[in-house]
Amino acid sequence: MSPVTSAPHGAVTVITVDNPPVNALSQAVREGIASAVAIAEADDTCEAIIITCAGRTFIAGADIKEFGKPPLEPYLPDLVSQVETCETPVIAAIHGTALGGGFELAMGCHYRIAAKNAAVGLPEVNLGLLPGASGTQRLPRLTGAAKALDVILSGRPVNASAALEYSAIDKVSESGDLVADALTFAKECIALGPRRIRELAVPEVDPALFDETRKKIAPRTRGLISPEKIVQAVEWSTRASFDEGCAKERELFLECMASSQSAGLRHAFFAERAVGKVPGVDRNTPVRELNSVAIIGAGTMGAGIAYNCLTSGMAVTLLDNSDDGLERGANTIRGLYAGGVERGKISEDDMQAGLGRFETSQNYANISGVDIVIEAVFENMAVKKDVFAALDKVLKPGAVLATNTSTLNIDEIASATRRPEDVIGLHFFSPAHIMRLLEIVRGKDTSKEIIATSLTLAKRLRKVGVVVGNCFGFVGNRMLYSYGRENQFLLLEGAAPEYIDKTLYDWGMAMGPNVMGDLAGLDVGHKVRRERTDLPDDPRFYRVADMLAEMGRYGQKTGKGTYRYEDGSRKPVPDAEVGALIAAESERLGVQRREISGDEIIERCIYGLVVEGARILEDGIVTRSGDIDVVWTNGYGFPRHRGGPMHYADTTGLDKIYEKVCEFEARFGSMYWEPPVLLKELAESGRKFSDLA
Ligand code: 3HC
Repeated sequence: MSPVTSAPHGAVTVITVDNPPVNALSQAVREGIASAVAIAEADDTCEAIIITCAGRTFIAGADIKEFGKPPLEPYLPDLVSQVETCETPVIAAIHGTALGGGFELAMGCHYRIAAKNAAVGLPEVNLGLLPGASGTQRLPRLTGAAKALDVILSGRPVNASAALEYSAIDKVSESGDLVADALTFAKECIALGPRRIRELAVPEVDPALFDETRKKIAPRTRGLISPEKIVQAVEWSTRASFDEGCAKERELFLECMASSQSAGLRHAFFAERAVGKVPGVDRNTPVRELNSVAIIGAGTMGAGIAYNCLTSGMAVTLLDNSDDGLERGANTIRGLYAGGVERGKISEDDMQAGLGRFETSQNYANISGVDIVIEAVFENMAVKKDVFAALDKVLKPGAVLATNTSTLNIDEIASATRRPEDVIGLHFFSPAHIMRLLEIVRGKDTSKEIIATSLTLAKRLRKVGVVVGNCFGFVGNRMLYSYGRENQFLLLEGAAPEYIDKTLYDWGMAMGPNVMGDLAGLDVGHKVRRERTDLPDDPRFYRVADMLAEMGRYGQKTGKGTYRYEDGSRKPVPDAEVGALIAAESERLGVQRREISGDEIIERCIYGLVVEGARILEDGIVTRSGDIDVVWTNGYGFPRHRGGPMHYADTTGLDKIYEKVCEFEARFGSMYWEPPVLLKELAESGRKFSDLA
């Protein structure tokens, strides 16, 4: 059955698209609309056509699953053109979100009416693309080039009232019955006749807009190709005919579509949607209701988590054993709220309501009734076990017991309680209210219900929750160890910190590993390593970081780390003293210093990640390789346009990676570079990590 149906309503034909979940423009939908419009146009009794959608939203775009495959007719730009040239007035009736090709189709219609809570947008930039069905040519004709650039470059949807203000739509449906309002609106449209956007002129614009825009977006679009092409396409709309502009848009769109960046971003899109699918935990798994939470530990992390929970509407108790700690934590929360209000992100009322749901306590008895506890105390097993034993005594049955440990064994923590099935790891990343990643660590006894509840909580906190198994450092920090290890060796071998950092930054990492170390605090890793008993017997292992930490050079917080910092500044300044210290340490350890190429830096650090990722897959710590990619793109600044370390490896070619890893094994030894069996097998059989899913 076609996902597109037509029904007459008097003299108006209502075409309804019903292609769950989001009415994407699959081939069947395109064909269905093309044929329904042609039939209605040929029908002498039909005076207007309404295109609307069933389900939760208007068309949310082209069908991304079809990208990368040979295109099938009818092509979307042709369909949009067919709708626009139709002699019978066509009206788009929009609810939910009209996105990408969906909004482009709506702009091919002669008129647009949208439900009050609907939104329209062109989010193609998030997929490394530009609107490819004449959106870059039609939107400027409606809104002017400046607004069109803003909408297309940000990818952010515009709500109905703003869209009306910018002329992107013609009417807002106020009654709550969109189709009824569209039928009423149709009478006006019949009287006016078809209004084709292609025939409108783009409002006059200062040509300087385009270079100014390029300058403005440069810092946030570093390394990306589609934003520049978007600017070019919109610029064409202002100085060429509609058809010439469309031809240029097509050319630029196809270049983007063929790019590895778009493939990486599309992978990231689907990987983020796949993480929620955990074998054995399905839609029917019961989820516990979470309305109240206690956060144990009022440090930076605890306060950040508390704020994140408050803004999601939960009642929060912050518990700590010191007055000072609680005061500091509460001040942090008040400061975060005040900052949110100042930046216009939170209303004064929401702040007051949030603070009204917030209390502090030093007494475990006060939190006995909460639905979930998130422990965020000092990273020490004995301390955490004491906390969990105390929680076990007071908490009501059914409460979720979560730990924010970043490395420790969940099962051992759970063993301090009589309810290990209710214990789970919820590993937040700093700053907790900003970072999107939440590692959800399942212990051997954690129940499916607690996993499902944690996934729901992640969504509520606007995070992407990735369910991972229990091992040292879980996924993110376990892999970080290999990445950081190579950085540390490279320092001893003669690469300056700023050279390593710039090389990886230019490759796309949000920041280099040495800048990151200084930001996180070199003392933190040093402390964790001192507690570990399973580290390699190698005096070079993390030697530079340990040496600096032992000297009190912790990083930004002490004004000196791998870099130095001027008073009150966070700008890392290369420090000749550190260069000399590292050189002396290399000599002491007998490490030969040499010239190191940028390629070697990238290969050793990034392939180090891939090798550990392969071991994580071998150990069954994640469900699929894409889960690792989601962790690294959302929690560790891995460039999203490269898809994540495992996708990057897949696109580089596992045979090539395997060959390099073997070379590194020969040069640097098997302790770190022995190729994982899985990598060898996949490379030899011409497969990819993604083939394992
Ligand atoms: N194509 C194919 N599948 C899509 C899709 C699309 N455009 N958009 C969403 N889906 C799928 C998701 O993969 C998911 O599938 P699953 O249930 O099997 O995992 C399902 O729809 C639901 O998606 P979400 O989980 O994201 O649901 P939400 O309700 O949270 O969000 C949404 C809905 C806002 C529509 C969000 O899915 C979204 O932003 N989608 C992408 C929109 C987009 O980028 N459109 C432009 C496409 S490119 C284009 O149109 C090119 C054109 O210019 C030529």
